[in-house]
Amino acid sequence: MSATTEYPNYSPGLQGVIAGITTISHIDVETSSLTYRGINVHELAEHGSFEETAYLLLHGELPTQAQLDAFRATLAAERELPGAVIDALRACPKNMHPMDQVKVAYSVLGAFDADYEAEPTDHDANVRKAVRIIAKAATAVTAGYRLSQGKEPVAPDANLNTAANFLYMLHGEKADDYTVKVMDASLTLYAEHTFNASAFAARVTVATLSDLYSGIATGIGTLKGPLHGGANEEAMHMLMQFNSPEEAEAWTRDALATKKKIMGFGHREYRKSDSRAGYLTKIAKEIGVRMGNTKWGEIADAMEKVMWDEKQLFPNVDFPAAYAYYLLGIPIPLYTPIFVIARTSGWCAHMIEQLDNNRLIRPSCIYEGKGVTNYVPIAQR
Ligand SMILES: CC(C)(COP(=O)(O)OP(=O)(O)OC[C@H]1O[C@@H](n2cnc3c(N)ncnc32)[C@H](O)[C@@H]1OP(=O)(O)O)[C@@H](O)C(=O)NCCC(=O)NCCS
Repeated sequence: MSATTEYPNYSPGLQGVIAGITTISHIDVETSSLTYRGINVHELAEHGSFEETAYLLLHGELPTQAQLDAFRATLAAERELPGAVIDALRACPKNMHPMDQVKVAYSVLGAFDADYEAEPTDHDANVRKAVRIIAKAATAVTAGYRLSQGKEPVAPDANLNTAANFLYMLHGEKADDYTVKVMDASLTLYAEHTFNASAFAARVTVATLSDLYSGIATGIGTLKGPLHGGANEEAMHMLMQFNSPEEAEAWTRDALATKKKIMGFGHREYRKSDSRAGYLTKIAKEIGVRMGNTKWGEIADAMEKVMWDEKQLFPNVDFPAAYAYYLLGIPIPLYTPIFVIARTSGWCAHMIEQLDNNRLIRPSCIYEGKGVTNYVPIAQR
């Protein structure tokens, strides 16, 4: 008997279990569309910016020009890391994955926040913390990465937005407008996604009346795994094995036959497609054409066809993100940290929503262990 037939109230992986009420974002499974506070994510990616998206997620409404200017100015003023955080990153082993580095950074950062002593349910203090958390993500990711490469961190430029600053602090020179726009759109697409594993984990953390920085550390740790955010890095490693669409097709057929999990495909919530993937695929292929390298798009198409024909599985956002970032020259270990830079906004919105109407999150379980037995003193075992 399977776990589901034996225990009708148990849903493995909590599939289909309603774990909360939210007003932050919504996945419409019928149309495969995603909205943030009611606004389609594609419109935000096309016409808005990551900063507008972060404001929308935190405050529930799109900003006016004056509100956006003020929000941008606060982000610019909050991007720098305290010296102690740089020191902590410098002390990390050189082979530490950037996801672990950024977890270190936020663990140290919490105590430097001007609202460190605030009550965990202080809404205004939590919004102020959220802005500081979002502002520092790209600085922490690039500082950690550069230090691991034996280079000094590049200080943020107050005139650049999040996407442009990330590229500037990574490479030490300003990126062109097109690259910045692509990066900005990908941050918007990655910013939020309902009760995904990392947002849920962050909510669980703060629901004990812990603080936002602790929730961010939880979120990063949860995002790291390849069944969640880590899939974009794994997808690129997979793609790099292939020299042609034919090779990719044969490998994919074999992987399905041997029941391998193929990274960047499938989703717990969507059934037919992940619209973010469709949007990003167009961009990734456009980058390929601009760069005179359409190989990855062709390989991706071949894999997608087999996955759909054989298993009705579709690419998720991590699949096109992988080769889009690769074409933009971003080192693979930074793909999931880019997701962190974006998702700090969604995580903060979730944690604030949780704390505004909090109840401890503590599910039950089914016990299948031994019956009650007496304690046996150690000398008699
Ligand atoms: C996202 C994911 C974890 C969702 O998992 P889930 O809802 O628990 O679904 P399951 O893993 O139970 O998969 C259901 C079926 O589809 C198959 N499947 C799902 N995703 C698959 C994938 N990427 N490659 C191959 N088979 C896959 C499973 O093997 C299973 O097949 P079966 O019924 O024949 O055993 C899963 O699709 C996955 O592992 N994808 C790859 C990792 C990834 O891209 N993660 C990023 C998500 S945004």
